[in-house]
Amino acid sequence: MQFDIQYEFIQKLKIHTANSNKYCYVETFGCAQNLSDTEKIKGILLECGYTDTNDFNLADIIILNTCAVRDLAEKKAFGRLGFFKNFKSQKPELIIGFCGCMAAESGVCEDIIKKYRFVDFILPPSSITSLPEILTRVLKGEMVVIKNQTDNLSIAENVPVLRQDTSRAFVTIMYGCNNFCSYCIVPYTRGRERSRDLNEILSETKNLVESGYKEITFLGQNVNSYGSDLKDNADFSELLFKANEIEGDFLIRFLTSHPKDMSKKLIDTIATCHKVSTTIHLPVQSGSNDILSKMNRKYTVEQYLELIEYAKSKISNVTFSSDIIIGFPEETNEDFEQTLSLIKKVRFDTLYTFIYSKRRGTPADKNPNQIEKSVKNERFNRLTTLQNEIALEINKSLISTTARVLVEGYSKKNSKVLSARTTSNKIVLFIGDENLIGKFVNVKITDCNTFSLFADVL
Ligand code: 5AD
Ligand code: SF4
Repeated sequence: MQFDIQYEFIQKLKIHTANSNKYCYVETFGCAQNLSDTEKIKGILLECGYTDTNDFNLADIIILNTCAVRDLAEKKAFGRLGFFKNFKSQKPELIIGFCGCMAAESGVCEDIIKKYRFVDFILPPSSITSLPEILTRVLKGEMVVIKNQTDNLSIAENVPVLRQDTSRAFVTIMYGCNNFCSYCIVPYTRGRERSRDLNEILSETKNLVESGYKEITFLGQNVNSYGSDLKDNADFSELLFKANEIEGDFLIRFLTSHPKDMSKKLIDTIATCHKVSTTIHLPVQSGSNDILSKMNRKYTVEQYLELIEYAKSKISNVTFSSDIIIGFPEETNEDFEQTLSLIKKVRFDTLYTFIYSKRRGTPADKNPNQIEKSVKNERFNRLTTLQNEIALEINKSLISTTARVLVEGYSKKNSKVLSARTTSNKIVLFIGDENLIGKFVNVKITDCNTFSLFADVL
């Protein structure tokens, strides 16, 4: 499917936006996929004649691109919606749109229709490309609610994108998820897996590299199963291999891998493709086989460790990051100790640690043996303390070594210091000239703390 069918509506919206400057403001919650969706939402709105702004006071249209993965993200989105309700009462012509994974949850949609009647449209992630059509209806006075679909979804190509960065870009390679981990809402909000055509991905990547992008991140909920729904037998190894052959000096990253689909063939491919990052984000979620089985993860701790060992033996300087959930229903002290023990064995560079959050409609939500908040908090603190010790030890071992880093911009904390990332995704801070931003630079690590390395430019 092509995006072209929306141009009929884009022409109408251009007439609406032609006479005065109309601004759009999009607030994003959650994961890289949502950041990427926001780039598409903004790209589409710009095509309709809107101007992007970071100041919601100027906005003629405000969109919340929400996340449903944990309760806290949902609370934040509702908080913002409350704030914008007051704002709209002072500016009635303002259009407010509710997008992202929360917009795909039936309970949430019903709540919004009942309690937040000032919202002009609700649009789940799989429908963002129909935004021009939806806006045309909203401008005629309709409140538009698009019901979420999970099956038989197609992929729109040629969607306009407003990239937020000039050196790093996301390229979505597949949408949706088929895994139904028992704690996770994503398969219900983003629907079944569907892969983009290999040549579409390669040509987008080539165009980005030719226009100066230095880092391309392939995105998907489970990139390792890329291609399983395609007729031509393409798989993720082939995609990496062919992307690696694109001319130019650039780095390929990918998010997220599922251990059950991480093959030795894929590890071999990473080992031979020198443009592919040697850091692998491989969410393990728990170090207990009992809990992994209850989470429906379909691998054991032993299989996970075998993959790690294989990758270490094949990929020089390989590093790992991971996601861990603590406090999953029925998690015992013994299960938790096994998670700590796995972390000590693998020694991840970075861990993204989450306290289990009940998600309506998921199997784990119905489990009567939920873990008490105080126990979850205590386990969470022990986990982060251990990981911080490991991360500091790893960082200290890098002092006096050299690294090639991509300079991202000025540090958020100190506007005189440049912030860059190593191939293994570590933050490196150093003093340097502004013209280094967006370039690869060789540095020598001189010092560190738990979360950053400090360096001198070589
Ligand atoms: N509670 C806590 N963490 C969750 N994640 C997904 N669902 C939940 C939940 N219900 C975490 C997983 C996943 C990451 C993106 O978010 O660790 O890998
Ligand atoms: Fe959620 Fe599991 Fe799919 Fe990841 S693989 S999006 S955790 S269901």
